[in-house]
Amino acid sequence: MDKLVEKLRKEHDLSDDELRELIESGSYDAELFKAADEMRRETYGDAVYLRGLIEFTSYCRNNCLYCGLRAANKNAERYRLTEDEIMECCDEGYELGYRTFVLQGGEDPYFTDDKICGIVRRIKEKYPDCAVTLSIGERSRESYARYKEAGADRYLLRHETANAEHYARLHPTNMSRNERRRCLYDLRELGYQVGSGFMVGSPYQTTENLIEDLRFLQELRPDMIGIGPYITHKDTPFKDEKGGSLELSLRMLAILRLMFPYALLPSTTALGTIDPNGRELGLKAGGNVVMPNLSPVRVRKKYAIYDNKICTGEESAQCRGCLERRIESAGYRAVTDRGDVKRVRSQK
Ligand code: 5AD
Ligand code: SF4
Ligand code: FES
Repeated sequence: MDKLVEKLRKEHDLSDDELRELIESGSYDAELFKAADEMRRETYGDAVYLRGLIEFTSYCRNNCLYCGLRAANKNAERYRLTEDEIMECCDEGYELGYRTFVLQGGEDPYFTDDKICGIVRRIKEKYPDCAVTLSIGERSRESYARYKEAGADRYLLRHETANAEHYARLHPTNMSRNERRRCLYDLRELGYQVGSGFMVGSPYQTTENLIEDLRFLQELRPDMIGIGPYITHKDTPFKDEKGGSLELSLRMLAILRLMFPYALLPSTTALGTIDPNGRELGLKAGGNVVMPNLSPVRVRKKYAIYDNKICTGEESAQCRGCLERRIESAGYRAVTDRGDVKRVRSQK
């Protein structure tokens, strides 16, 4: 095996120079993906964990420059699911075997802390054997504490980019890398299982930025790391920017698997959007989570963070069956239990 890949496999770390070489050269990919797959089989076997995703509001007060749901996008169709509709998604998901529900939305002030806590409590009362994951952006420490109290188990909030200047080029001036970090550390301290992550190939991103992302993740040590290619949305300021590549996305996924053997690594919808085989390839490069869409089919097209998002048509009513076939065809096994992370925080 190549020395670089071998070192990363053994030590779960490399110098910046070595990482740069690995990230910029495609010549290690075959070995890298093979080593990443071996590592995931050592830690998690052939299991791929399913998380039922409920996109419950497409309203957002923010203006991230890359995202189709940004407040300034007047072409975006907005919707909110009612509490009963959210419960119906959970009912359907439970029937399908899901034991994790991910409530994801834009930063929508309509969903006050009281409303969020009410929804979390209702799901946990009806389905105490399920994990509830929130993904609703930046809120105060007090709010996060209240959701935890109400029963939320996990929280997903990507750091997007670890570099302050790069962060400032992707976001309006009222958002900052430091506030995002504050949120992530608060969530961790409050006892959530935390997911973070970044986009691959976002505008202005350099190799150095990607290395900084890896270093930040080494510091934060999240339980889950979600990455996917940046994909252009036609109604954003970045409409003329090109998207991230499949190759680099898979390479970063494999590096993450070797750096963080126990991390939960989703093979994302964005990966499946830029290549019909993207999610299968993501699993083979170290991914071990997929998030089938449980949102009502009538709203799916409206949750358009980027162009051409998959799983939004009529045929996608049951992502479960589709994904299960894909997981099996890639050589893995779909698992529906809660799939908590398999490590204690002191482990790498
Ligand atoms: N392309 C890819 N990913 C995107 N996200 C937002 N906009 C885009 C885009 N245009 C990602 C961000 C966010 C997550 C919910 O979706 O990383 O955290
Ligand atoms: Fe809103 Fe999230 Fe999109 Fe930013 S990435 S505009 S916070 S939905
Ligand atoms: Fe959603 Fe295939 S996974 S349609």
